[in-house]
Amino acid sequence: MSAEAGELVTFTGLKKVYHLPGLEVPVLHGIDLTIRAGEFTAIMGASGSGKSTLMNIIGFLDRPSEGAYHFKGEDVTALDDDGESRIRNREIGFIYQNFNLLPRCTAFENIALPLFYRDDVEDERAAVTHALEIVGLSDRGHHKPNELSGGQRQRVAIARALVGNPAILLADEPTGALDSKTGQEIMDLFRALHGRGCTIIMVTHDRQVASHCKRIIEIKDGRITSDSLT
Ligand SMILES: Nc1ncnc2c1ncn2[C@@H]1O[C@H](COP(=O)(O)OP(=O)(O)OP(=O)(O)O)[C@@H](O)[C@H]1O
Ligand SMILES: [Mg+2]
Repeated sequence: MSAEAGELVTFTGLKKVYHLPGLEVPVLHGIDLTIRAGEFTAIMGASGSGKSTLMNIIGFLDRPSEGAYHFKGEDVTALDDDGESRIRNREIGFIYQNFNLLPRCTAFENIALPLFYRDDVEDERAAVTHALEIVGLSDRGHHKPNELSGGQRQRVAIARALVGNPAILLADEPTGALDSKTGQEIMDLFRALHGRGCTIIMVTHDRQVASHCKRIIEIKDGRITSDSLT
């Protein structure tokens, strides 16, 4: 298990085939990719090109069909479910287009949720308070999602993703449900998080959004067609 310094994600010849009854759907066709600590990466590509599939594999929500996945130098290609969820809970923070907040819970409770699966965070209240502070919502902890604007809901979701101090934030179209001004504010927040050393991978269709990132990877039909620094 020798990783080059700072390598978080290393895919070698990664393939994904979905199996439906009587049908095989090949989606990723041999992805070689390295993501290092502190990178701020956009993944772009047409609908159906495999972006979410790739994110799900990075985030231990799905498994590759072929090829190898090394996480922090450890071969995680064939981890069992327990091993996968252990790494996922500790190392990955997810952010979605539609926020995925629990409607009956306050912002504070939503943000605290991932800590429920962790036993290594000593002061959970302090961690949530700090996460609220980072996203600029210290005065909104008691609000429920329907008492918040779209941009504020996404901030809560971002706080929930980062509360456990994961190695990687994975954001699938985080500005997709927001107007452009609010999307811009969310990108400002991601930039600030990048400035604090967070590793961020986001999917976007929007070139303006992607231009905030430091690296842009383009996927076409399950293959990387371009990978460049901005
Ligand atoms: N669970 C699944 N079972 C079978 N096929 C799937 C499954 N998930 C995704 N696919 C197929 O894999 C391909 C890639 O899907 P994916 O969701 O990764 O695309 P995407 O690039 O994220 O698209 P979008 O921009 O629309 O979100 C699609 O053709 C889709 O139909
Ligand atoms: Mg998708």
